[in-house]
Amino acid sequence: MNEKNNQKSESGFKGPNNRHNSGMNKKTRPLLIAGNWKMFKDHKEGFALAFALKERLADISTIQVVLCPPFTSLQAVSSAIESSAFFLGAQNVHWEKEGAFTGEISSQMLLSLGCKYVIIGHSERRLLFHESNKIVNLKLKTALREGLNPILCIGETLQEREKGKTEEIVEEQLKGAFEDLTPEDVGKIVLAYEPVWAIGTGKTATPKQANDVHLFIRRKLEERYGQEIAGNMRILYGGSVKSENAKDLLKEQEIDGALVGGASLDLDSFEKIVRSGLDL
Ligand code: PGA
Repeated sequence: MNEKNNQKSESGFKGPNNRHNSGMNKKTRPLLIAGNWKMFKDHKEGFALAFALKERLADISTIQVVLCPPFTSLQAVSSAIESSAFFLGAQNVHWEKEGAFTGEISSQMLLSLGCKYVIIGHSERRLLFHESNKIVNLKLKTALREGLNPILCIGETLQEREKGKTEEIVEEQLKGAFEDLTPEDVGKIVLAYEPVWAIGTGKTATPKQANDVHLFIRRKLEERYGQEIAGNMRILYGGSVKSENAKDLLKEQEIDGALVGGASLDLDSFEKIVRSGLDL
């Protein structure tokens, strides 16, 4: 299955490790649109949606599409998207290689099903399952060591935004998550800025609000890891992305894609969102 993914990135899509290095230019960062299905769709429904998406989006080669179904649907979705340009992603992973961790899933298990990506540090994991920056850091390290590309989520709550603490929180989350990572490791990560107040609420950050935070993140990355890593890092926006607002968000200079929850569960909506990334 690893082979499958390698072949895919070699033969077709210019993947995350294959980008140009000409500084902070959006055009050098391939757009990535990921669907986070959360705890929706059993394996049959997952197969049907993924298969239909594959057919509908067969002509898309310039945008990287990642589907992140629940663990139980990974295998079905993996076979549904075979011989497409889509990538498979998981929504979570444990930080140990294996062991007595009832209910948990390892990086190798995900890789063996064809996963290339894994979402780490989603705000629902942080808030509902008490995942700290330390845990996020452990998960990142293991995923990277084992060969998965993390989609690392960061973002402030409404209260934090209202207190003017957005930048402080985002910086703290980045610092905690990246502790002890080499610049090479950091270069493999996709970031997703997801303001918690915008997730599942229908309240999207305005393109400018999102772009401002993305720019802040990129500047912090540049301070710490240099222009090449900062300039190549994909920073996705997430939080009530819909077909109606996707284009305006994706047009922004610092927004390199979207992490889509609710709207990724609907065939027409997700197709439209992916297509809004064309001809920006
Ligand atoms: P939403 O979720 O698009 O439903 O707001 C985004 C996410 O949680 O990743």
